[in-house]
Amino acid sequence: MKHEKIIILDFGGQYAHLIASRIRRLGVLAEIRLPNETKASDVDDETIKGIILSGGPQSVFAPDSPRTDDAIFALGKPVLGICYGHQYLSHALGGKVAPGTTGEFGRSELVHDGKCPLFNNVPEKSIVWMNHVDAVGEYSAGFTNCATTEHCQTAAAWNEKKNFFSTQFHLEVTHTEFGEQIFNNFLDICGCSRDWSVEQFYKEQEGKLKKQVGDRNVFLFVSGGVDSTVTFALLTKILGKDRVRGLFVDTGLLRQGEVEQVEKSIRAIGADLTTLREGEYFLSKLAGQTDPEQKRTTIGHAFLDVQQKFFAENKLGDEWLLAQGTIYPDTIETGGTKNADTIKTHHNRAPEVQKLIDAGKVIEPVADLYKDEVRALGELLGLPHELVWRHPFPGPGLGVRILCAAEDISEPIVDEVDAFTFQPKKKPFVQLPIKSVGVQGDFRTYRHPAVLTSIPGEKTIENLEKFSTKLINHYDDINRCTFILGKNYTGNISHVSVKKCDISSARVETLQRADAIVTRLLSDMNVYSAVWQFPVVLLPVSFNKTGRETIVLRPVDSIDAMSASVGKLPWEFFDRAAKEILKDETISAVLLDCTSKPPGTIEWE
Ligand code: XMP
Repeated sequence: MKHEKIIILDFGGQYAHLIASRIRRLGVLAEIRLPNETKASDVDDETIKGIILSGGPQSVFAPDSPRTDDAIFALGKPVLGICYGHQYLSHALGGKVAPGTTGEFGRSELVHDGKCPLFNNVPEKSIVWMNHVDAVGEYSAGFTNCATTEHCQTAAAWNEKKNFFSTQFHLEVTHTEFGEQIFNNFLDICGCSRDWSVEQFYKEQEGKLKKQVGDRNVFLFVSGGVDSTVTFALLTKILGKDRVRGLFVDTGLLRQGEVEQVEKSIRAIGADLTTLREGEYFLSKLAGQTDPEQKRTTIGHAFLDVQQKFFAENKLGDEWLLAQGTIYPDTIETGGTKNADTIKTHHNRAPEVQKLIDAGKVIEPVADLYKDEVRALGELLGLPHELVWRHPFPGPGLGVRILCAAEDISEPIVDEVDAFTFQPKKKPFVQLPIKSVGVQGDFRTYRHPAVLTSIPGEKTIENLEKFSTKLINHYDDINRCTFILGKNYTGNISHVSVKKCDISSARVETLQRADAIVTRLLSDMNVYSAVWQFPVVLLPVSFNKTGRETIVLRPVDSIDAMSASVGKLPWEFFDRAAKEILKDETISAVLLDCTSKPPGTIEWE
């Protein structure tokens, strides 16, 4: 079945994903695969019912600002421009954008005039979320303004004749109270039938997969995470147990007890699973490696070595295909669209896998789905609820959560210098002599984390998160802010040292112990589902000459991993976790990461 769909032309940043997932939840397929300069002739297809121009970080005045093929405006399809899209629509069609100086960020009250159908069933006054510096100064011919905020007189516009609409505010973020209603109105204007659902996707996959696979068999490497497990269950259900072989690779980089847990739940759905115990092999390949991207590539290669060894030993030839649990945002983050910077190299796009992809030997049945859709599919396939709703776990496992160091560093901290003024008092912080990955202004960064030793103001996550944003905006060389937990460090940090190290089995076990404490407490305190993901990270950092290591707690709230805020757990959780973790003789300190994404990524690497 060919779905009616909405095409989102992605002007960069992370907005297009949010727009797509919101529209899909309203029952209409939304796609963002087309580059923003797509030729009008390529979207002149009657299944495309409307075009959305996304937000983006640029200004229309920048010499290399993203553009569209403006012939798309002559196709007769409804168009909705959002933020940069709002300005671009005006700019491209002969209006004027006024360069801003101060900007409007966050919450604003929108007032609309009740005439534009985009605002049907939206109260005259409502809260919207703004994020712009420039603003439209003069609309192009045929457009009229239909909404304002206190700081923006040109907050939304429409061209009645052409069915073009645009909003300066972001409809796609949850902070915009009536965003969903406005999208729904646009879908009505486009005349879209609501024919997209996970149930429908599953029905269509049946025929599609059978055709794609033909008489070949499929194998896949199961990581224990939601995406590969759901892919495995989907293939088993459609092709039958005898034609699908799951290889669960125990990389030695999994969580404590995870191998047994995954084996149990997968066997319960009647699938054919073989566990390959390769921990020693992975660790031998990682020996001496400290660079995060190199570690990730090594883990990807080791996966492929295991695969080739499996092939050789099992005489599997051309009649086999490799399946992967790649999901929609994975393909975009690795440079699937032009404007997405390569934030990270996912191992399912390692060069060897790419060769197999080019040879047509890889299938990725859930590559068009967002995570929440993959989970819904998992439930539909009868996977246990606890498995489907498990926190996401990266393919390279604890390998991305164990930071390494290429050299020893020893730094006396002179009286916690670099005090940062935060009303009402100066707050000291320590800058760690290691670096972690982050994402700022849509680009990847590799910078130092800061450690706070006392809480600025009230002891709440919200407060720490706010402070963290201020601190990071102020200092160029840091991209994360952490707070030191536990009784040990209410006093001063006099010394920080880093020990040269790679990933060893002892370090893996240290992290597994801390991670198991966190997982158990999340469940004991009944807060497992209160956070979206909770990486626990091991740093080769020792405070005050203890010669030990450091654990970082990184609870996050997110919808799709594209952006995240710090997970709002009660303080009691962190107090208990730190107390238990600090009993471990190899641990020097426990830090709480209070950074949102951006500027920090979810993982530390
Ligand atoms: P970041 O750290 O980029 O992570 O904010 C976003 C989400 O992606 C997961 N992640 C990975 N998943 N292979 C995966 O399968 C990877 O190499 C990888 N790196 C990050 C991460 O856990 C988070 O959910």
